Amino acid sequence: MQDNIIMPRHVGFIMDGNGRWAKKQGKPRNFGHIKGADKVEEVVKWCFESGIECVTLYAFSSENWGRPKEEVDKILELLVKFLKKHLKSLLKNQIRLVVSGDLSPLSEELRNAIYSAEEQSANFIGKTLNIALSYGGRQEIVNAVNGLIEKGEKVTVNSLSGELAKRGIPDIDLVVRTSGEQRVSNFYLWQIAYAELYFTNALWPDFTKEEFDKAIEWYTSRNRRFGKL
Ligand code: IPE
Ligand code: IPE
Ligand code: MG
Repeated sequence: MQDNIIMPRHVGFIMDGNGRWAKKQGKPRNFGHIKGADKVEEVVKWCFESGIECVTLYAFSSENWGRPKEEVDKILELLVKFLKKHLKSLLKNQIRLVVSGDLSPLSEELRNAIYSAEEQSANFIGKTLNIALSYGGRQEIVNAVNGLIEKGEKVTVNSLSGELAKRGIPDIDLVVRTSGEQRVSNFYLWQIAYAELYFTNALWPDFTKEEFDKAIEWYTSRNRRFGKL
């Protein structure tokens, strides 16, 4: 890639298609989630190596709580494993970890693991890994509005943007969704107002470096007008 291109500052991944990927192999859905977690490792590396400052991963939506308990438990278990396995290298690489979403339904063990990882990495600047967990864009907006009301602040575009970005997560420049679905499924509704949306048919466990490069190249070729000329 050339030097003068403008990279996205914040990329959000809707990591979809684990279940279908497993089904294609004749395996249970949870096998797809295991492979999907391995893929996360690779993609995060590609992102930070290419100079992206903030990476958001949609790991589990508010609505995913409606799946069978066995699947929910497996996804959450994989998350604990991910944190345990990668915390050291996140810290070594000075990556700030943020987990966004409603953590109240999680086990105390998982909540504490998350808070501890966030705390240990809180002072890093430049690289942020944001995991959207038990996350819903609508719920986040409602919480932020209530936060402003509680503080007695007027709700405006600026104050709400500020409230939503208070943990240092900027608006999203590029959304990449795998699996061929062309929808946003409650992902950062406010912060994607002017994002470029990239859809690929690859199922998440099959998402390759070539696909990643293609998405970035496509982004850099877009003319982002933000409503102007
Ligand atoms: C994405 O894969 C992972 C989560 C939503 C947790 P899916 O589990 O949605 O896989 P498909 O879409 O059913 O193939
Ligand atoms: C979106 O995928 C949520 C995550 C990737 C975590 P879903 O599979 O839950 O979304 P829908 O049901 O296809 O909209
Ligand atoms: Mg899905």
